[in-house]
Amino acid sequence: MEYDAIILGGGPGGYSTAIRLGQNGKKALMVEENKIGGECLNYGCIPSKAVIELADAISYLKEMPGVTSSVVIDMKKWQDWKWGMINKLTSGVEKLVTSYGGEVVKGKGVIENRNSIKVNNETFNAKNIVIATGSVPSRIKGIDDVFYNRDILDVDHIPKSLIVIGGGYIGIELGTAFAKLGSDVTIVEMMPNILPGTDTDLSKFVDRRMNSLGIKTFVGAKVEKVTREGQYTVNLADGSQLKAELVVMTVGRQPNTNGFGLERLNVEMDGKFIKTDKRKRTSVDGVYAVGDVSGQPMLAHKAFYDAGIAADNISGKMAEVDYRAMPFVIYSDPEIVTTGTKTEKFNNIPLATNGRALGMNYNQGVFRVYVDNEYVVKGGAFVAPRASELVSEISLAVEAGLTSKDVGMTVHPHPTLSEGVKEAAEATYGKSLHYKSSR
Ligand code: NAI
Repeated sequence: MEYDAIILGGGPGGYSTAIRLGQNGKKALMVEENKIGGECLNYGCIPSKAVIELADAISYLKEMPGVTSSVVIDMKKWQDWKWGMINKLTSGVEKLVTSYGGEVVKGKGVIENRNSIKVNNETFNAKNIVIATGSVPSRIKGIDDVFYNRDILDVDHIPKSLIVIGGGYIGIELGTAFAKLGSDVTIVEMMPNILPGTDTDLSKFVDRRMNSLGIKTFVGAKVEKVTREGQYTVNLADGSQLKAELVVMTVGRQPNTNGFGLERLNVEMDGKFIKTDKRKRTSVDGVYAVGDVSGQPMLAHKAFYDAGIAADNISGKMAEVDYRAMPFVIYSDPEIVTTGTKTEKFNNIPLATNGRALGMNYNQGVFRVYVDNEYVVKGGAFVAPRASELVSEISLAVEAGLTSKDVGMTVHPHPTLSEGVKEAAEATYGKSLHYKSSR
């Protein structure tokens, strides 16, 4: 039998391509060697947010004025619950794929040519191939015996002390969560600031919060060697040493392009990524690539989006990606989100002017809506609890070409954090209700 498409990889990019193809009436075969749901569902986005929720629940109560609380965490029981929750999600995804007529085969898929893939010694043929093989953690040469995201998210106890190598997205999210769970956390970042690439007037709120949680951060500090004798010793380039029960390495991720016969296709590359055009086509006819393997940003929601575009093109439609309103979320404390593009025209709305935030015992953060000279919304940046849940309003405004008045004149429920978005929109034309800007 010839499939319309064989999809290599069952993560967010792969399974959503399979679902979208099924919705388009096409016959898809999805190949996954590990667990359906990929890194995100099993070892990344979902379990990391679960551990952050656990940590936040504990610190929220502990830090509430007038409250004395003591909590006992049984991590083994929590891990059982977590895997139960994840398994429900992954089996739900598999059922969705098959409910649309898609097929799933478990095993390592190896590309034979642009129309066939071999899995467990069986060859499957298709009109198209979609490469959705994701990414793997970056490693530092010579440093092997450390934890990566998968290991730290699966611990059966809270480590007494934890060194996080890399102060990027994963390092800050995990470091903050484990500090709240009781670990003595040290973060080592080689760039001059944590969260390099994020504006410091946004990340400063997170920096302060990490300080107040007792997290030690070493910036401009490069890790050279890690040794383990009972506990770990981390050697920095300046000759100093740090010691901890556990070390987790979060120094970025690399597209996964090795070990599945990609070289047989001779596809054009873009650095380490597979090069694709706006329709998610590679340089080889009938071969598509989606998600992390196909370029930055390496985010699950970008993979979902790519998947819909690739599936539509395979189904004979004309569809192109447009990443103009791509949200970026750091699940730090408070969360940092950005979407769209920055402009010079904005006014900050401090989180401390938001009644709902104050009632949650939060006052550190900011809301910002970026507009052009005609007040058309171009982007936004928020630092606030649950900012991830607020950002899509601005993404929609960017996509739809709305002005800040459209957002500002939309009635937002009171009291909510979402009023911060409204007030930041109002602030662009000088009429924020609860804050008088000096700009
Ligand atoms: P990252 O690229 O965000 O951060 C890695 C950090 O490690 C950088 O700041 C880098 O300067 C530092 N570093 C590299 N080598 C070092 C060394 N020898 N010593 C000290 N510091 C060193 O990568 P991360 O945090 O591992 O996340 C990987 C990717 O996963 C992200 O780029 C993102 O695409 C995705 N991700 C997204 C999340 C989200 O959307 N909330 C959450 C987690 C991951």
